[in-house]
Amino acid sequence: FGLMFMTFCFKVSISQCNMEPQCQVRQFPNGFSFGTSTSSYQIEGAWDADGKTENIWDHMTHSRPYLIRDGSTGDIADNSYYMYKRDVEMLRELGVDIYRFSLSWTRILPTSFPDKINEAGVEYYNNLINELLMYNIEPVVTVFHWDLPQKLQELGGWANPYIVEWYADYARTVFTLFGDRVKYWITINEPHQVCHYSYGNSFLAPALDIKGVPEYLCAKNLLLAHATAYHIYDQDFRPEQNGKIFISCSAQWYEPLTESDAEAADEANQFEWKQYSHPIFSKTGDFPPAMKKRIAARSAEQGFFRSRLPEFTQDEIECIRGSSDIFGLNHYFSYYVNRNDSVNGYYESPSFNDDLSVFYTLLPEWNLGESDYMKSVPWGFYKLLTEIREEYGNPTVFITENGFPTRGGLDDDVRITYFTEYLSAMLDAMEEGSDVRSYSAWSLMDNFEWSSGFTEKFGLYEVDHNSPLRTRTPRKSAYFMGEIFRTHKLTR
Ligand code: NOJ
Repeated sequence: FGLMFMTFCFKVSISQCNMEPQCQVRQFPNGFSFGTSTSSYQIEGAWDADGKTENIWDHMTHSRPYLIRDGSTGDIADNSYYMYKRDVEMLRELGVDIYRFSLSWTRILPTSFPDKINEAGVEYYNNLINELLMYNIEPVVTVFHWDLPQKLQELGGWANPYIVEWYADYARTVFTLFGDRVKYWITINEPHQVCHYSYGNSFLAPALDIKGVPEYLCAKNLLLAHATAYHIYDQDFRPEQNGKIFISCSAQWYEPLTESDAEAADEANQFEWKQYSHPIFSKTGDFPPAMKKRIAARSAEQGFFRSRLPEFTQDEIECIRGSSDIFGLNHYFSYYVNRNDSVNGYYESPSFNDDLSVFYTLLPEWNLGESDYMKSVPWGFYKLLTEIREEYGNPTVFITENGFPTRGGLDDDVRITYFTEYLSAMLDAMEEGSDVRSYSAWSLMDNFEWSSGFTEKFGLYEVDHNSPLRTRTPRKSAYFMGEIFRTHKLTR
């Protein structure tokens, strides 16, 4: 099958270039790595198999199914706990250099703490890692991708400062178990989603929806947990294991709708991604200034003597500043931002964040996809990469997620167009100096898309969620991306 796959791809690129005289071929630099991403809860299933205990997504999908668009759960998901060999076979078909996946905390530590290590869970990840390495695919492992142990949630989860120690113990455990073979570690995936959409809203588990304080406690504790794990790795593991460790932030691009919205757009960028990247990558080691100012002002208006945004001590600042070897970036789309809600002719949605209080605007001509909220805006990717380069002294960037949803079907031209334009925008930024060295598409295959259940499909491979084995079939985009992954060339 692999060979057929290659021949097919080869033909596609030749014929495309023959037919279009304008056809341009752009080469990625030497050493650039390509891959795909997934996460444990979204693909593994086997939610209570072989000693695994309940995490917050098991708990929420079972107890509050109305929070998931189709009422589904990740109980079986893509069945990857039993199908990992097929997953690796797909990665070989695609010709990737790397595979980004995450570890399930409660599969490895069923009590949440390292007092008891679940051998069956460890064996699953050992098998997956060894299978990848056998085929020269580099594992890039996310330690935490949202599936917090339910027991820890009952103790306050990310809002409890003790989570810094709980998380650090878990991280130390997985460095010890897998660090001889894993050379790229992502501490935490998308902190903004972990704190804002989960503590300040009901979009993601644990769906607490308490405004104004818990999400900022979460942000502070999460940054300290990340930084503590970074230093544990740096001091106790790096000398022997010689790997890299970093955090992956979600960063969309927020563009001012009119000239007078520059401040609103800047604040939107600060509230989403700079909230986390600024403490780590800027010289200040602190939350970004406009965000601090706005929350302080809102707190004062509400009669609070102090800002609801917690402060860092000097020691905490030193711990967090510089605690990432790479800038991990998950990027999907962009918004126009405005403060005035009377703008007509555009689709507007009020901000989810009460403190930020801006309106997001999607232009109708962007409405390329089949998703309610994701639009293809490649220039936003270019602007974002430029901003990261200019603001943070050109850090090395790994794109750890980028992708586009459809509602299904194997003919996903819309996704091919999206990838072509986004990769092109990325190359434009790289030509101007952005140090991007890796790109992972979200996702290897359709999977449990959180509150959208199985209704939004991001896969290069389609997954039949009605078949007992969760049969996987390559989409047109799998052939297209396979060609790019193997040749390290983009033809458009
Ligand atoms: C971000 C998350 O990391 C991932 O879990 C999710 O499925 C994709 N974006 C698509 O929404």
